[in-house]
Amino acid sequence: MSHGPRISWSSLEPRLNRALGLAASRVERLVTSQPGSFPIYTVNGRWRHAGESWTEWCGGFLAGMAWILARRSSDPEWRRRAEKLSLMLAPRRFDREVHDLGFIFLNSYRPWHQATGDPAILEVMIEAGRTLALRFHPKGRYLRSFLAPDSLFIDIMMNVPLIFLAARETADDALRELARAHCRTTERVLVRADGGTAHEGIFDLETGLFLGQTTQQGVAPDSTWTRGLAWSLYGFCQVHDFTGDLADLTVAWRNADCFLERLGPNPIPPWDFDAPPEARFDDSSAAAIAASGLISLAQSTRALDADRADRYQARAVQIMDALLQDHYLAWDQPEWEGVLKHGVYHLHKNLGVDESVMWGDFFLLEAVDKLLDNPASTGQIS
Ligand code: GLY
Repeated sequence: MSHGPRISWSSLEPRLNRALGLAASRVERLVTSQPGSFPIYTVNGRWRHAGESWTEWCGGFLAGMAWILARRSSDPEWRRRAEKLSLMLAPRRFDREVHDLGFIFLNSYRPWHQATGDPAILEVMIEAGRTLALRFHPKGRYLRSFLAPDSLFIDIMMNVPLIFLAARETADDALRELARAHCRTTERVLVRADGGTAHEGIFDLETGLFLGQTTQQGVAPDSTWTRGLAWSLYGFCQVHDFTGDLADLTVAWRNADCFLERLGPNPIPPWDFDAPPEARFDDSSAAAIAASGLISLAQSTRALDADRADRYQARAVQIMDALLQDHYLAWDQPEWEGVLKHGVYHLHKNLGVDESVMWGDFFLLEAVDKLLDNPASTGQIS
C-alpha cells in the first residue's frame, strides 16, 4: 500500500545532521549566554524578553535537548551541561502548582537514569511522580490541571507516564490504578468520536460529574486544538508502553488517524484544525510532537499491525521532511535564537505566536534523534 511520496534517505540524512548541528549551536548559545534560564518562547526570535510564562512547564525540554546532544556528541561538555540543567530542575519534584512534572522529569532525569542506572536519579522521578499523583480528584477520577480543581487538560496525558513509572519502580498498585483512572476519564470526556480531542473538561467538584468540554488555547470548546491532539496521540502511546493495554494503544491510533485525516496532504497543521482562514497560523511545534509521537507509535504498533505502522512512520517522515526546510529551521538566520520557527504557544494571550517555542525545538530534535538512530525503520524511505 502507498503511504504518500517517497522521501529518500540520501535527501533526509544530511538535513537531519544539519538540524542536529543547529540545535547544538542554539542550545550552547542559550546556556552560556543565559545560564539558569529556562525560556518558553521567543519574541522576535529572542529567548530573553519580559513576556509572561502563563505557567512554568518547559525546563525539561532544554535539559532534554542537552541529554540528546550528550548522547550524540563526543564532547564531554554536553554531559556536564545536561547534568547541570537537570540538577537545577530537582526542586521541581515537589512542585504542586503545575501538572507538568512529566514534561520536566521524563525528558531530563529519565535519560540521565538510562545513562547511569543511578538509583538516586530514579528516586527523583519517583518523588516527582508521587507529587503529580497528589493532583488526583477521587470523585471525578482525573488529575486536575494547574488552572483549577475542576479542570482536566488533555496535556496531562504527556505527564501521566511519570506516575506509571513511579508505580512500576515501587510496585505501587494504588498509584498505577490512579494513573489508569485518569487515562480512562480522559478518553471518556476529552476524546471525541472522530478521534479528535477537546483541550479541557470541567467537572462538578461535589459530585465528580463531568459537566462539559471547553478550551484555553483552542479556537472554541468544540474545536480541535492541534497541539492538544498531538499530546494525546503521543501520551496514550507512552502510557501503552507502560500498561500494554490495547485500550491505550487504540486511543493513540484514533488520535493519530484523526490528526492525519485532518492534515490531509499538508505536512504542517494550523494551531487549531478549526482555525478560521484569517488566523490560520502554522504550529510547527504540533507537527514536531506528532512526528516524534508517530515514530514511537509506529514502533509500538508494528507487531500488531505492520501496515498501520508503516503508514504512521511514512507520515512522520513526511512531516519531518517539511520541517527540515529553510522555511521552518533557522539555520540561515544566526540572529534567530531558536531552532524551529513558526510555532504557537498561546494565541489568545498573544504569547509566542509565530515564534520558536522550547518544546518545538525539543520534539524536533527528539524526532531527528530517533530517525538517525534507526534509518532502516523509516517505512517509505529508500
Ligand atoms: N502547556 C502545554 C501547551 O501549551 O501545550
